[in-house]
Amino acid sequence: MGEEYADLRPGSRPPRRRASVLTWHDDAVTVLSDSPFVRACRGLPGPHTPVWFMRQAGRSLPEYRKIREGIGMLESCRRPDLVTEITLQPVRRHGVDAAILFSDIVVPIAAAGIDLDIVAGTGPVVADPVRTEADLARLRPITADDVDFVAESVRLLVAELGATPLIGFAGAPFTLASYLIEGGPSRTYLKTKAMMYGAPRLWHALLTRLADITLAFLRTQVDAGVSAVQLFDSWAGALSEADYREFVMPHSARVLGGLADAGVPRIHFGVGTAVLLEAMGEAGADVVGVDWRTPLDVATRRIGPDRAVQGNLDPAVLFAGWEVVEREARRVLEQGRAAPGHVFNLGHGVMPETDPDILTRLVALVHEASAG
Ligand code: CP3
Repeated sequence: MGEEYADLRPGSRPPRRRASVLTWHDDAVTVLSDSPFVRACRGLPGPHTPVWFMRQAGRSLPEYRKIREGIGMLESCRRPDLVTEITLQPVRRHGVDAAILFSDIVVPIAAAGIDLDIVAGTGPVVADPVRTEADLARLRPITADDVDFVAESVRLLVAELGATPLIGFAGAPFTLASYLIEGGPSRTYLKTKAMMYGAPRLWHALLTRLADITLAFLRTQVDAGVSAVQLFDSWAGALSEADYREFVMPHSARVLGGLADAGVPRIHFGVGTAVLLEAMGEAGADVVGVDWRTPLDVATRRIGPDRAVQGNLDPAVLFAGWEVVEREARRVLEQGRAAPGHVFNLGHGVMPETDPDILTRLVALVHEASAG
């Protein structure tokens, strides 16, 4: 007879099943917070340098292209069965140290009432761009109910992933605003910057609303069980440091600060952010994502000793042959040793044309070269 029944006497209450559920949950949380990935995010030593890839769940994998056949991007993000399968695919194939939820940064703004689509080869396209006070009214706040499919996906994934942590994510207010204002991807961010400089009141109102949406979206993922979150400010590199600090940082800081008590590491990433790294750390990140332009030791000197770094192999290196991949990966590992914690990643997302076998080999190399 199990120990929990030993004290059962006539008239006593049945064993509290909930207690054992809670114990199981606590054990799972302990295992995850002791994982190489979460330890590196916290600046703690681990058995090897953890590695995962931005856009690891996606078009570089034939099994992804197959399962997505005939199903739109937004629709697949809203189906927990598909989200679960697609998120697991790179974990199974490559043995990465973390999974990232299959979704997109525009999912919460679609849930907030904006009519948009994700067009293959282009990216998010917004039917009626948000450019006036009246347009702003179309962007409602969201609650957990608006994104219940995300919470359901996270719950399914946490059960499947076991000891592998799941990263939740959201787009940062600036990057989301750029899609809403431009109506789609942009190279110059002309309309975005015109609002930022020319209509600062409207700008701050829009970014405040986006920060609220982003925070609610990330909270939903944390409550459902993700082990870390990444805030993608992919296009913040379009700004000077002074403009970033004035027009963007307070809003991203509110999102990251709003998760300070969540108990999960917060990763803050952007592209072309060499001059913003310090500010992006100050905004409230535990880990700063670094693109391929800044070596990790240089980045760490800018960011400071109390934050880990993530990055930063150039995704194009994966097309240059294995010898180059190995040399560059070893350089990134070496330079990453300057930081209190290093999560190996690319400097930006996996390109669709990447040979997935190179990614699998790279994971093995990172583990082997950093072990011990
Ligand atoms: O990283 C992962 O594997 C998880 C899934 C993920 C996607 N988008 C899936 C996706 C994540 C984390 C994102 C974030 C995202 N989406 C960002 C921030 C990261 C970054 O790359 O800077 C941005 C800017 C977007 C907006 C977006 N969505 C773009 C620019 C594109 C690419 C357009 C194209 O087709 O080339 C998308 C579409 C998208 N998001 C795809 C995937 C797998 C491709 C669509 C498809 O498979 O049909």
